Amino acid sequence: MYNFSAGPAQLPGEVLSRAKEELLDWHGCGISVMEMPFSSDEYREIADAAYGSLSELIGLPDNYHILFLQGGAYAHFAIVAMNLMGGQAVADYVQTGHWSTRAINEAKRYGRVNVVASAESSGFNNIPVYDDWTLDPKADYCHITTNETANGVQFHRFPDTGAVPLVADATSDFLTRQMDISQFGLLYVSAQKNIGPTGLTVVIIRDDLLDKAMDITPSVFNYGLQAKNNSRINTPPTYSVYIAGLVFSWLLGRGGLTVMEKINAGKAERLYEVIDADDLFHCTVEPADRSMVNICFELKNASLAEDFLREANSRGIINLKGHGVRGGIRASLYNAMPAEGVDALIEFMQDYSAGHSGKAITGAESDS
Ligand SMILES: Cc1ncc(COP(=O)(O)O)c(C=O)c1O
Repeated sequence: MYNFSAGPAQLPGEVLSRAKEELLDWHGCGISVMEMPFSSDEYREIADAAYGSLSELIGLPDNYHILFLQGGAYAHFAIVAMNLMGGQAVADYVQTGHWSTRAINEAKRYGRVNVVASAESSGFNNIPVYDDWTLDPKADYCHITTNETANGVQFHRFPDTGAVPLVADATSDFLTRQMDISQFGLLYVSAQKNIGPTGLTVVIIRDDLLDKAMDITPSVFNYGLQAKNNSRINTPPTYSVYIAGLVFSWLLGRGGLTVMEKINAGKAERLYEVIDADDLFHCTVEPADRSMVNICFELKNASLAEDFLREANSRGIINLKGHGVRGGIRASLYNAMPAEGVDALIEFMQDYSAGHSGKAITGAESDS
């Protein structure tokens, strides 16, 4: 079975096997990780190890903290604003698709949001050219979505926003490539794509941004307070942190993010090549801005989409249905998707195309 879900997504088989072995009794302590008090020495060991291996993976600079919180990125759309808009109450946002639009709508509750660039008029098929952004030098931060999971566009280069901290929702491509953390003031990530099970939100924050929260910020979502208390002022998502730690070790064991980036780029390139070469398929995202991890495409004859998905399922190739806002097909190629999964998908697409030659008419034509 190959699971192309956009999230919650496939986890590495080795990680699940290890979790299974340790499920009832973690390292001989007699209880499951799920049953441990979060103040226990055992849980501290688990959380500290996860923190350590994540720091090593991303090359965490000394002046940053990692927080293991709850809420999901959707909650942090608001929580980021509450934590960082305590100064001018002004932030710049770049609108690149479904998730950045939601981030904008949440942030608006807490201050003035300038949408400094938007790809809405192109149907979110590209990343707006940086030179055209109209940044406010006094903004509290500038927000981007590094990869739009629903639309299949991705930043392949990050803007230099000068003294204004760059803040990023990196939910769907964090750990799939090398990133220079020092380019960002803050990154936040829901776990369920490349980190582990749902329930955990990882926040990486530069220390000078830790004390800017508005008074209305709930204590458990006050980044400064959580940093001072090792993300333990309330019950952390302990089991998710444990699995995340196993995933971080798995990634280190594979050679780290430079290696993963190469593997992931190879998987994506092969799939886009097939989409572009075959008359049955079509990708509307501009080539320079295409996502390496959420490959969104359509069947030119839209009426075949349901049949395509059914056939794929019958071959054990599952969860290819595109996001509701965009429709079509979406193959998510996160870290845990092996190259063989992409081979299987490509083979299926080529077989399907061969069985439907001459049917690559557009949806509009097929309506007539
Ligand atoms: C880029 C991006 N941001 C935010 C979210 C929302 O995450 P959650 O549902 O965990 O709050 C998602 C979910 O898929 C996402 O892909």
